[in-house]
Amino acid sequence: MHILIIGGGGREHCLAWKIAQSPLVDQVFVAPGNAGMGHVAECVDIGVEQFSDLADFAQKEHIDLTVVGPEAPLAGGIADYFMGRGLPIFGPQKDAARLEGSKVFTKRLAKKYGIPTAKGVEFSDQDYEQAKDYIGRLDEGSYPKVLKADGLAAGKGVIIAHTKQEALQCLDDFFIKKVFGDAAQRMIIEDFLDGYEVSLLCLYDGNTVLPMDLAQDYKKIYDGDQGPNTGGMGSYSPVPLVSRSIKEKILRDIVYPTCRGLQSEGIQYRGVLYAGIMVCGQNPHLLEYNVRFGDPETQAILPRLEEDIVPYLIACSKGTLDQKSMRWEPKKGVCVIIASKGYPQSASKGDPIKGLEHFNGDPDLMVFHSGTKNTGEGLVTHGGRVLGVVGKAETFKAARKKVYASIDKIRFSGMQYRKDIAARAEESGI
Ligand code: AMP
Ligand code: GLY
Repeated sequence: MHILIIGGGGREHCLAWKIAQSPLVDQVFVAPGNAGMGHVAECVDIGVEQFSDLADFAQKEHIDLTVVGPEAPLAGGIADYFMGRGLPIFGPQKDAARLEGSKVFTKRLAKKYGIPTAKGVEFSDQDYEQAKDYIGRLDEGSYPKVLKADGLAAGKGVIIAHTKQEALQCLDDFFIKKVFGDAAQRMIIEDFLDGYEVSLLCLYDGNTVLPMDLAQDYKKIYDGDQGPNTGGMGSYSPVPLVSRSIKEKILRDIVYPTCRGLQSEGIQYRGVLYAGIMVCGQNPHLLEYNVRFGDPETQAILPRLEEDIVPYLIACSKGTLDQKSMRWEPKKGVCVIIASKGYPQSASKGDPIKGLEHFNGDPDLMVFHSGTKNTGEGLVTHGGRVLGVVGKAETFKAARKKVYASIDKIRFSGMQYRKDIAARAEESGI
């Protein structure tokens, strides 16, 4: 088989690495890929939004399945386009991808089907004065409030306002200054939920839901969840903090009703259904849905999958998933992202990266590239998130030790990473 993966980050490197191990697969292509993937895949210089070029390539290379990594092409209708040309694709169509592409869509769905989520009010940019009044009438005791741009905003469209002043500022940014452009034509103002976050990624083919092991990611740049949000600074899997009964509750109260809701609305969903959950006490609430594999959750989850992933991806894309569960290694997975100088406000490029030669030999130690580039001077930084180092071991303590010891050997100017990834999981003693 020939597989094409669309995207160019750490998630796609990890997918390529896992898919290349399949005995069913002869060749993996990644468009556009990155500098680290050469050992498992051939990179093709086509952008993720160039649907017709991607489909031409898929046709020419007899691609048996195209696997979409990022959200933007899904929200833009890549699955519809490929299916229209008779090309098999893994990822939901445009109407289903609204689960990630529109927070208003998801909030309405949650309300209609009784899915627990933060209480929210929606406004359109025509309702600027009403939104201002609404914020004006909130007493200070009701803060923090969470303001969310409706559309895709590269993970930056969610603002936690601690005061009326901050909320009004954010409203102006969304509706007057248009800092997120059309992504903030509509917004939601919702209650703040206090708890801990967990990601539940499921394969869903429109009939069968197949949950993966839980993961947790770290969105803030600095240790102790300080500083601005990023694309994700690390992850780990499984999540000892979340009991089996809470996972069952997430499925029963959130994921299954969502699937039934989609069916009732006549929306067919095929792909990864990723629920971002806030667990408050014993009660999970839906924060958001993503319609794809998470980055960097994927890098902590997939190395623990004891089975070939390819039959799952094919069955999911065809609507023939019939497995009841996936088999996971008991080993713990930890992924630490190394970012470049200035991230997340900016991203230094062109800094030479040294020390990756140490990553040979240990099958439980991997490095997945994101923003890297090969030049005449060797490998250099080429983006905000640069590398993800993943370790597996019997305990979180050993997995963390493995990861951090190998990061000590990597060097590039201005490299930054969090030192506390999976620290809470380690405290659990497992
Ligand atoms: P979202 O894109 O909706 O997942 O939001 C991004 C991040 O903002 C989440 O991962 C949470 O850390 C935070 N967040 C979103 N909604 C809320 C909420 N209602 N209460 C507290 N934190 C939230
Ligand atoms: N880890 C969060 C995301 O993939 O959106």
